[in-house]
Amino acid sequence: SRRVTVRDLASAKQRGERWPMLTAYDAPTAAVFDEAGIPVLLVGDSAGNCHLGYENTVPVTMDEMVMMSAAVVRGTKRALIVADLPFGSYQESPAQALHNAVRLMKEAGVGAVKLEGGERSAAATELLVQAGVPVMAHLGLTPQSVHAFGGYPVQGRGDEAAHQLLADAKTAQSAGAFAVVLEAVPAELAVQVTASLHIPTVGIGAGVGCDAQVLVWTDMAGMTGGRVPKFVKQYADLRATLGDAARAFSADVIGGSFPAAEHTFH
Ligand code: KIV
Ligand code: NA
Repeated sequence: SRRVTVRDLASAKQRGERWPMLTAYDAPTAAVFDEAGIPVLLVGDSAGNCHLGYENTVPVTMDEMVMMSAAVVRGTKRALIVADLPFGSYQESPAQALHNAVRLMKEAGVGAVKLEGGERSAAATELLVQAGVPVMAHLGLTPQSVHAFGGYPVQGRGDEAAHQLLADAKTAQSAGAFAVVLEAVPAELAVQVTASLHIPTVGIGAGVGCDAQVLVWTDMAGMTGGRVPKFVKQYADLRATLGDAARAFSADVIGGSFPAAEHTFH
């Protein structure tokens, strides 16, 4: 059985079929999602705050992305694996973007890369697509710009911002992107963008009118410590489950009831 391809995602839009995407940062978690039938897994630079313990996505390096992406590829059989180009790995020049995208394809084995920005990343997108690298664009709240935004505010509010976001989406499509993530934008604008593009939109905090939806896996599974954004739905409480397991193990060790006879060699 082959992996999902960008062509499959183009056909899904034509047939009006929605699809889910989740982030993954390691092999065993990616294997769980692959076996659950999630068709697209994103090795997001959200690993910065969700997996590597950084404050945000800004410090994430290419070496870290390659290591995590290779693990996710090794852990999966069917999903299309998309890897983020981290902050500073594509903004210098299209040549820099191609160099780093090629690393993710050759060293990690991913099937596509994602980068933030529409017009500002169009030249890089064009070069990557010409070279045979499928590119997913990311518009709206682009977390690598956290310091410029002064936080994580909703994007695309007001006529001018909405017009700019729509223009960015069309530019990403013209540059050859196969899909566009829309993060934290009003649902009405996401519907308008989705109707204006022939490539799929992938929403996160962008309403139900997108072609696909993505969530950060640690958010949706209850592994994220502290507060999560309004757009997250929590489908499990893994922090509580793992905490209970750790406390039970601890109690067994302290009380001398682990290991029992069945765990013991003679
Ligand atoms: O890094 C990430 O997890 C992302 C998604 C939120 C789209 O870019
Ligand atoms: Na990201």
